[in-house]
Amino acid sequence: LGVTLVGFSGGQCRPGTDAGPEVLTQAGLLTQLESDLGYTLHGDTTVRNFNAYQPTVTDRDNALSNSSTIDDPDHRGMKNPRSVSAVTEQISELVYQQARSGRLALTLGGDHSIAIGTVSGVARAIRERADTPNDLAVIWVDAHADINTPETSDSGNIHGMPVSFLTGLATSSTPGIFDWLQPHHRILTSKLVYIALRDVDAGEKCILRENNIRAYSMHDIDRHGIGAIMDAALAYIGPETPIHLSFDVDALDPMWAPSTGTPVRGGLTLREGDFICEAVAGTGQCVGFDLVEVNPSLVEGGVGDTVRAGVSLVRCGLGDTLL
Ligand code: ARG
Ligand code: MN
Ligand code: MN
Ligand code: MN
Repeated sequence: LGVTLVGFSGGQCRPGTDAGPEVLTQAGLLTQLESDLGYTLHGDTTVRNFNAYQPTVTDRDNALSNSSTIDDPDHRGMKNPRSVSAVTEQISELVYQQARSGRLALTLGGDHSIAIGTVSGVARAIRERADTPNDLAVIWVDAHADINTPETSDSGNIHGMPVSFLTGLATSSTPGIFDWLQPHHRILTSKLVYIALRDVDAGEKCILRENNIRAYSMHDIDRHGIGAIMDAALAYIGPETPIHLSFDVDALDPMWAPSTGTPVRGGLTLREGDFICEAVAGTGQCVGFDLVEVNPSLVEGGVGDTVRAGVSLVRCGLGDTLL
């Protein structure tokens, strides 16, 4: 198992998401993966503080009082563009090394912008690996589609844009901002499947429709049940294609996972979330897994429920079985 622990919250505006990996590991997640599931852990099992990164490209044109704004002014409406670009470039390389060695790449976030790094790293490794003839498919489990381009985004938060960069819908022309993201890092829109959507922006709906992207909303899950939805999703991907599962904890209903920056009611039950992870693990095709958007500093009652949910999702995704 190739582990990457990403303390980073620069893809959105609420501090605290960078402490996600810390609370998950303090709850014993990594120890459980070793002792209960028998994994050998590779990679850095201490949390890396990517928030400490200072962008080297300085542009004082739009400089305001805030120092992060001075060093990293908005670009195409994106907030912290140089910082997110540089951090995801490093994550991409770390995750690539794990996936290239044939290890399942597990990444604990951090906000969902980090998936620009994780998915690109795994996609590149899978292209190079002789044992995987097909390009990577991505199952994106989320209340949100995270496929805004900088131009369609209302918030400017890059955690709402990772899929548009990963699919090449939002390439950047400015040197220093995501120019490291090359064709060999990208995924095809035809290899993308969404599950649990319920808060999709108008511009994102156009993108999903125009590119004919496979998406299962909460309505679809209510109508058909999570079992039938996973059967359909996995049949669409096919049995010979490696899968990266990118799981935003806000896919779960806030009843189960309240400690997250952009909660949306009407989400998955904990069992539905676990079932998705179990179904992907059961294919034997899983090569990458992200758990993101756990933010310990948001809920008065504490982060306990959300951490327990996160631990459960990761265990299920890594092949824990009920019986
Ligand atoms: N669609 C909204 C935006 O673009 C919300 C995105 C939330 N993303 C997330 N990874 N939680 O800002
Ligand atoms: Mn290959
Ligand atoms: Mn989300
Ligand atoms: Mn997300």
